[in-house]
This record gives sequence, structure tokens and C-alpha cells, in this order.
Amino acid sequence: MPESGQVSLERPQAAGGQTLLRFLTCGSVDDGKSTLIGRLLYESAALFDDQLAALERDSRRHGTTGEAIDFALALDGLEAEREQGITIDVAYRYFSTPRRKFIVADTPGHEQYTRNMATGASNCEAAVLLVDARKGLLAQTRRHSIICSLLGIRRVVLAVNKIDLVAFDRARYEEICEEYRAFAKGLDFAAIETVPLSARFGDNVTVPSERTPWFAGAPLLATLEALDGESEAAARSFRLPVQLVIRPDSDFRGFAGTIAGGVLRKGAVVKVSHSGQAASVARIVTPGGDAEQAKTGEAVTVVLSKEIDVARGDVLAEPTQLPEVANQFSANLIWMQPEPLLPGRSYLLRLGTKFTPATVTTIKHRINVNTLDPLPAKALEANEIGVVNIETAQAIAFDAYRDNRETGAFILVDRETRATAGAGMILHGLRRATNVPWQALSVDKRTRATLKRQAPCTLWFTGLSGAGKSTIANLVEARLSRDGFHTMMLDGDNLRHGLNRDLGFSDADRVENIRRVGEVAKILVEAGLIVLCCFISPFRADRRAVRERFDAGEFLEIFVDAPLATCIERDPKGLYRKAIDGRIPNFTGISSAYEPPESPDLVLETQAAAPDELAERVVALLEARGHLRRA
Ligand code: ADX
Repeated sequence: MPESGQVSLERPQAAGGQTLLRFLTCGSVDDGKSTLIGRLLYESAALFDDQLAALERDSRRHGTTGEAIDFALALDGLEAEREQGITIDVAYRYFSTPRRKFIVADTPGHEQYTRNMATGASNCEAAVLLVDARKGLLAQTRRHSIICSLLGIRRVVLAVNKIDLVAFDRARYEEICEEYRAFAKGLDFAAIETVPLSARFGDNVTVPSERTPWFAGAPLLATLEALDGESEAAARSFRLPVQLVIRPDSDFRGFAGTIAGGVLRKGAVVKVSHSGQAASVARIVTPGGDAEQAKTGEAVTVVLSKEIDVARGDVLAEPTQLPEVANQFSANLIWMQPEPLLPGRSYLLRLGTKFTPATVTTIKHRINVNTLDPLPAKALEANEIGVVNIETAQAIAFDAYRDNRETGAFILVDRETRATAGAGMILHGLRRATNVPWQALSVDKRTRATLKRQAPCTLWFTGLSGAGKSTIANLVEARLSRDGFHTMMLDGDNLRHGLNRDLGFSDADRVENIRRVGEVAKILVEAGLIVLCCFISPFRADRRAVRERFDAGEFLEIFVDAPLATCIERDPKGLYRKAIDGRIPNFTGISSAYEPPESPDLVLETQAAAPDELAERVVALLEARGHLRRA
């Protein structure tokens, strides 16, 4: 039975000397994709007899092909599931010939979704790209080719389908092939094969057609059998991303993971990506016992000849070809979630076995997936692809995706919903990351703070415009300075006259506003100050990202809470009036969202108490947390 689901991380091994080829089929439903896959499965005898009987019955009843079998119906179970609202990103189907086993990744239904394609393509070696001989190349053909190329597929078979409907016309076939080769010059394909075929009548699918005597090439199946599939993976240099450090007792210390490139041999010297320490391989433990060697895709536990520091997320690698270790790199990024990607926002990045917070620092450009042209972009919407710079909180070990599709690929996870937000392919590390060291200073935060007799921190006031943030923070600051403490106030309105004067109120600009303010606040805390920040800061993710820039206990989130109706009523700056009249777009509370904190350090309900009293509560919080040292 066909299986379906998300990307499979397993690498099925072909038995009995057969090689394995994973390929993706691209093309819209009308191009005959289902019929082609159905026929491949049928003619390679992968359909079970009972399925076949059912198929013959259904074909007579519902098929569109008269007495002939409608192969497209073989795949209909999947469509039915879709109709019931079950989301299927990719369906995997299996068939084999004496020469090769095949896994077909089929992305059903709405082909325009980049997400499905990307999921299917991410671990395929080849793609079969269907075009309708009557229609020729469509925007979709180009789009799918570009995505395949970005995802590292190097071998493409252009299947010019429905050749019967153009009367097996050689000129038409050659015209399409030429046009495709010209277009694909800009892409990264190593080989492009072309086949004229009719999925419906079986011409050149598994057997050569007598109706295309002018075609000297092999039918599709033989072409797929001959494609060079696995040589690249084997040629990569050795990589073992460590998933687990196994230490059942003091005698055994092993590093477990799945080999992501090359071959591991007993006795070979390996180095640890982050520390550069070296050791030789004493044992390779596999599920079947000790082995002399293991190759890409195998799960192993490695015992080294001596004790060196290895942790989850480290990569054991060939000493002369270590992966890069850096906290900044550029990458192609496919955006998948409905909310746009905003530079400066914090996501969780997962690369292999490593998780770390990360932000996209710059969107260099968005890619026009029909032409490959770069387009300017401030954000990436769902299904868009862009070239971005990424910064991770911790340095990670990686390769360029071009060199290794496993150690060069990552996903970004939304921190609120935990959904996969984007998938990335690393282009290269950024030199600025390795060439700008951190300068050690002799006077540090502690010294500065001790002189001021306080433990510095940031008081982050968040809430709607007109909730009372600035009013309360002003009172707090006055109180603290009267008592001899050292403070600094950062206020949204004021900073937007200087540092942030280039920013407006789009989501993207607000993210950047808060990021910059967070950085300034951090510097002021380094200076030993108690920093009061008053910003609407409507998004949870961005407040959290600021919090993470600080040491524990240094960031206190204060939710200045007032019902929207109250803020509208107060309307101290007359802005709500204008916003309601439609004269200010993206106004928080009116036409732009506010996400209240989930676990603030303090909630101040400004409807319920006077500002002085609320300010006292803030001072009391500072006292309680030990920020104020009185002589
Ligand atoms: S934030 O959303 O990026 O945190 P910030 O606190 O810097 O906003 O600035 C908010 C102030 O800008 C408001 O108090 C108000 O005076 C003014 N303002 C002007 N336009 C808007 C808008 N569209 N939404 C919210 N505030 C606005």
C-alpha cells in the first residue's frame, strides 16, 4: 500500500545489490502525473492482484478511459483523504525492478504550494518533470524546476507527456526539449534526460513505443534505472552529527547518531567540529553488532580511543575537511507558515541534532520562482523563497547545502505554535562572524553596577497606547532618582524621533524597533543602569527575544493593562480617534494586533489604581528582586 506522511528521515537501504533511487514527480494534475505513477506501479507489478481487480472494476464504472484501465484511479485514495480534510504533504510510493528500487515522492493536489514540493524534494536524488506536449513549458514547469534545483536535485527527467495528442510529432517534442534546456542553463542540474511519452497508452513508459520510431533514447523506466543516484552521497566527506552521548557506566562512552556523509572506518582519525579535538575510532557499534565500517544513512554508536569533549550537536568529521562552525550564515529560505517571516524575530533553528534560537538578520532578496530574478522584500510570505542572512544564538556546525544536503539544511520553528515555519538551505558562513571577535573589556558590568550600588536591569513596560506605560515609568524613574539610583528611560515616541526614525508601524518595522531598543537597553544595563523601556511592543515573540538577550533576572516584563475601550476613551494623543476614522493604518488595538504577555513579572491594571500606587508596586518589585541596595 502506498504510504503517506511527512519527510521520512530514514534512508531505506536497497537489498540484494539493487540500488535505490528516490525521485519526485512534478507537474499539475492535468499533465497526467497520477496516470504516469499509476502505470509505473502497475507495469512494474507493484499493484497487488486484489487492488488490480478493484481497479478494473472502478475503471469500468467511473473511469474516463472506456474499457482501458484508468491508472489515475489507483491514486485516488489519497485525494479522498484530502477531501476529508486530512493534510498530506507528500505521499511515498514504492516499486522496484530487478535493477533498482524506487521511492516516488508524490505531492498531491495543490501543486502550487511550495511547501509540499520542498518537503518531497528534500531527500530525492531526481525529479520527473511532466509537461503536456500540447501546452509545452508552463510557468509551473519553471517554478518546479527552480525549487528542485534549490533543493539540491541534480538530475531531471523531462517527461513530455500526451505525445499521442500531438500525433507523435517529433518537431514538437524537440522544440519543448530545446526550450527547457535553454531555460535550465541557469539552474544547477548535472543531467537532463528527456522522454516523449503517453502515460495513458503506455508509450515509452516501461517499453519503447513503436509510434515514436524517431526517438532513440530509453523509455522512462529504463532512464530512471540508469540515473546516477547515490554516488554523490557516498563521495561526501565523513559527517556524524552527534545525537546522543551514551554512558551506561564508567567503562563505556559512545556517541550515537546517523552518518550524514561519507564512510566511517574503524581506526580512522576524526575531529570534533566545535573544539577541533581529535581521536581515533576504537569501535563502531551498530544494531547488528560491532562493524569495521559504516556508511551514510546508517545509525551507529562510535567509541573513541580517548576521552575528548563531545556533546549533542557536535559533528564528528574528517580532520582535513571540518564543517564550518559559526553563528552567522546566508541561506536560501522557503517560508511555509501563513504569518510572514519578519527579520529580527526570534525562531528556533534546528539543524540536524542541534536546536538554537535564531533570527533572520536580513532578507537580501526574494526569488521570483518563475524567472529566478531577485526581488526586493521586507518580509517573506508563505510559499515564498528568499536569500537571507541568519544569526544563531549559539554557534553551529554546518556545511553548504551544495556539499551536504543533511548538514546544510535546517528548519525554523515558530516559538509560539511550534510549527515548522521555514526550511533553509545554507549557502555559506558569513565572514563577519569569524572575523569580528568579541573584545574583552577590563571594566565590566559588575564593576559599574557596584559603583552605583544597584543590580542593573531592564523594566519593560508593554501595553496598548494610552494604557499608561509612560506615566507610570516616569513616576518610577523620579522615585528611583530621588533615592539616588541610576536610571535611563527609553520611550517609544522619543526613540522614533532619532535612532528609529526610519521605522514605521508595519509588523516588520515593529519587530526591528523592538530589536534595536532591546540592544540599546542591553548596553545600558552593561553600563550598570536600571533601564525603563516604554513600548507597545505588541508581539510576544519579540519581547521574548529581548528577554533572551539578558542574563537571568535582568529583564522584568511589566504588563500595563487597560481595556481597549478605556484607552480609546482616554485617547491622550488623539490617535485612536484618527485610527478609528481610518486615518492611521496598522494602529494597535484597532487595525493591528496586541498579544498580552503570558507570564509577566508584574501586571498593573491602570483602571483599578492611581498611577502613584502602581509606580510603588514597581519599586517594590525591584526591592524584592534585590536590585536596589540601600546604604
Ligand atoms: S511599537 O509597536 O513598535 O512598540 P512604539 O511603542 O515604538 O510602538 O510606538 C508607539 C507610539 O507611536 C504610540 O504611543 C503612538 O503615540 C504612536 N503611533 C503612531 N502610529 C501608531 C500606530 N499605527 N500604532 C501604534 N502606535 C502608533
